[in-house]
Amino acid sequence: MIEISTSILTVKKESSTKTFYDLEVAGTDYYHIDVMDGKFVEKNTEKMMYEYANIIKQMSNLPLDVHLMVENVKENIDRYLPLNPSIITFHYEACKNDEEVLRHIKYIKENGIKPSISIKPATNIEKIKRFLPMLHMVLIMTVEPGKGGQKLIPETVEKVKELKKYLEENNLDTYIEVDGGVNKETVKMVKEAGIDIAVAGSSIISAEDFKKAINELK
Ligand code: DX5
Ligand code: ZN
Repeated sequence: MIEISTSILTVKKESSTKTFYDLEVAGTDYYHIDVMDGKFVEKNTEKMMYEYANIIKQMSNLPLDVHLMVENVKENIDRYLPLNPSIITFHYEACKNDEEVLRHIKYIKENGIKPSISIKPATNIEKIKRFLPMLHMVLIMTVEPGKGGQKLIPETVEKVKELKKYLEENNLDTYIEVDGGVNKETVKMVKEAGIDIAVAGSSIISAEDFKKAINELK
């Protein structure tokens, strides 16, 4: 069975506390926090996501899965450290070079948090192979980062398969997470490809019954 990390990107402010509570009762495994800076991607969700993450922290013990879609990775890691997230994911494409990638991995680890790298649909897994032994997880974007409610790009599933094969051949226990366009139809494909965690936003948040939506995905 896979784990579900619910993206709270489209949660309405007025009903946010109740929604977070309902998601926990419904059995989400993580809250997925989509931090966007208006530079790495067009939208800016920095303020809202920070508020949401703080609300969640006060009411739930479930782990936070922080996805940084930002240019300034270090600044955002520092902002989220006090909330003690379980996982912090940053984008390979946001880093100037491999040394910067290594610096962030080391810094996240030193602070007792699980490091993860995300790659956009056009980025090949070759680029991140050397980091895999140091990573808790790789987040394969199955849509272009930037907004919820998009369609999963089928070619990205091939990347998941390729990564899974490489991890097995090299005896690595790095987790694979996918993010974008996951619903009860597309989840089958990524599950078969070997993922451990699926992020789902609109397919859960827009459902009448969160529990049913999460159970169907699992
Ligand atoms: C996209 C975000 C995703 C997204 C998921 O940039 O990283 O987490 O909100 O939402 P759905 O499941 O609606 O594609
Ligand atoms: Zn995300």
